[in-house]
Amino acid sequence: MQALDRASCDIIAGHYANRGHRIHARWKLAHDPVYAVTAELLRHARLPLLDIGCGIGLLGQYLHAVGVLSNYIGLDHDARKITAALAAARQGRFEQRVQLSSADVATLPATRGHVALLDVLHYLPADRQHSLLMSAATLLAPNGILVIRNVLREPNWRFHATRLEEFFLTVSGWIPGGAQHYPTAAEVRGPLESAGLDVRIESLRGRTPYNSYLIVAQPRHGADSSAVTRQPFRLADAKADAAPLDQLYSSAQSL
Ligand SMILES: C[S@@+](CC[C@H](N)C(=O)[O-])C[C@H]1O[C@@H](n2cnc3c(N)ncnc32)[C@H](O)[C@@H]1O
Repeated sequence: MQALDRASCDIIAGHYANRGHRIHARWKLAHDPVYAVTAELLRHARLPLLDIGCGIGLLGQYLHAVGVLSNYIGLDHDARKITAALAAARQGRFEQRVQLSSADVATLPATRGHVALLDVLHYLPADRQHSLLMSAATLLAPNGILVIRNVLREPNWRFHATRLEEFFLTVSGWIPGGAQHYPTAAEVRGPLESAGLDVRIESLRGRTPYNSYLIVAQPRHGADSSAVTRQPFRLADAKADAAPLDQLYSSAQSL
């Protein structure tokens, strides 16, 4: 799965009515590999995807653009972001495949499929992170994949750069409440393994200075579990899908 080209990023960004959201979307799509990596991981099994802390629904937009979106269930406790995500899905003409709700991570819908938790964990205190990871594990289908991306607590400059960025995100109002607890790798791995998942953790920061990691987990006895948790994942090695970007261009014509 290759990163989207600039025109495609612009088209997705154009689905957002708010200028700040457009700038954010363009920047994320151009510099952060997390959506492309998630699409590559999920494309092998078309299952419903629960995106916990979905923000403005950029992952759903990306998956739609590359033809990997089946049924996208996003939740976020910030009602403004959910409103923006819904409007953007309508603008992209795929709202029929999207269910978005304003809710806390404590009230997850009873889905069975894949689960994504991208850059959300550290906004919860340690005990809530533990219970969220345990709950997320129960929502996986036998061949479902849990994709987590998060900053991990480590003694390096990237970790401190991340804390600085989080400070600005909090004071700007983008993430009210801000970071609560930065987990270590062991704090993420422990609950997932005790819930019966195979876990792989590797660095995933793209062209950002942040101390971000990709954590991929799958039921130990799930079909083909070795495919994603036992081999290092390299975006550059991944084959490009037949990217149905014409969907994007047709929605762009209506802008
Ligand atoms: C950095 S954003 C990531 C958004 C999205 N996952 C992405 O990668 O594009 C973190 C999101 O987590 C949401 N969030 C934080 N705490 C939450 C909670 N307790 N319940 C639901 N959403 C939460 C925030 O509102 C925010 O949209």
